[in-house]
Amino acid sequence: MTLPDVRPAAPGDLRALAAFVARMNAAPAGQSLHCAANTPAGVRAALYDRETFPAGWERAFVVAETAGEIVGAGGCQLDAAGDQGWLWGPWIDDPPGWPFLALVLLDALFDRLPRSVRRVEAFLHAENRAGLRFLQSRGFSLGALTHLCVAPRTLPLPDAEPLSPLRPAHEIAFARLHAETFPARGSTPAETLLTGRDDEHAIFAAADGLRLLGYVCVSVNHAPCEGFVEYLAVRANARGRGIGARLLQTALRWTFEDRRLPQAALCVSEWRGGARRLYEAAGFRLHASGIAARLSPPECYRTVRDS
Ligand SMILES: CC(C)(COP(=O)(O)OP(=O)(O)OC[C@H]1O[C@@H](n2cnc3c(N)ncnc32)[C@H](O)[C@@H]1OP(=O)(O)O)[C@@H](O)C(=O)NCCC(=O)NCCS
Repeated sequence: MTLPDVRPAAPGDLRALAAFVARMNAAPAGQSLHCAANTPAGVRAALYDRETFPAGWERAFVVAETAGEIVGAGGCQLDAAGDQGWLWGPWIDDPPGWPFLALVLLDALFDRLPRSVRRVEAFLHAENRAGLRFLQSRGFSLGALTHLCVAPRTLPLPDAEPLSPLRPAHEIAFARLHAETFPARGSTPAETLLTGRDDEHAIFAAADGLRLLGYVCVSVNHAPCEGFVEYLAVRANARGRGIGARLLQTALRWTFEDRRLPQAALCVSEWRGGARRLYEAAGFRLHASGIAARLSPPECYRTVRDS
């Protein structure tokens, strides 16, 4: 039996890698939702997104080959601070060799991660049981079932007056509400959201004078091309009065009218029943359900290398 050759990806792998990932993503059982594209063109667009891989995608990927054919691949996208990594894959097309090959791939990938990385997170389709089982066996902890929902561009939007961008006077209250509502370690800190605002990252707010009632964070994704609703929250004692719906409509207006993007998307945990009903009423439909798997280095280096 020939063992696959695991090596860093090179620019010349683009065609074969895009075709391989698209084929693996075509069935939920093999799909990784951090790059869920299931056409070679869609995968190529995701790999060539300069915001996602500013140093070039090939520096973030490893591939496994047998007789010149790609049989496994994985990548790790880093945030701007180099603190958090999002795993793409692992994609493995070798059922009997799955755990072994995935282990070697993950090891090679972690070898290439800067030591600044404090956390890595994979997001696999809920039916990708081999992948989830493998990650769990390597010490990753699995999160709640999460739904990736998509809304196509629908115009005109309801008539309500859109809300304004978050003002400086509300930034402290925003940071507090964000930390209270999304305390999970994987959540983007308020500071990063505030400093990251630009043409492609917006925060809109609902306020009553100086009192912040709620906010929505929305940004542009390039592959797929969409407006992504990252966070939506309404202060607990202001809920049930239509503020969440208005914030969401503001994010949709920004996505469809301002940025002229063809779709909007978001992720919502299974247990957030209220938010799910709100999204459904606004036209979002289930695209795929996945489970995040998280690991905090340096445990991950130890977990993989010491086995
Ligand atoms: C989800 C959230 C933003 C909704 O804000 P809100 O201001 O209460 O929402 P609205 O009053 O605009 O409700 C709009 C619709 O959403 C649905 N909805 C919202 N919360 C609901 C709840 N707890 N139970 C049932 N339905 C709910 C209803 O369908 C409602 O429609 P209706 O007015 O016809 O009844 C708010 O509950 C919140 O901040 N939750 C915690 C954070 C969260 O879950 N964010 C989403 C993360 S993905």
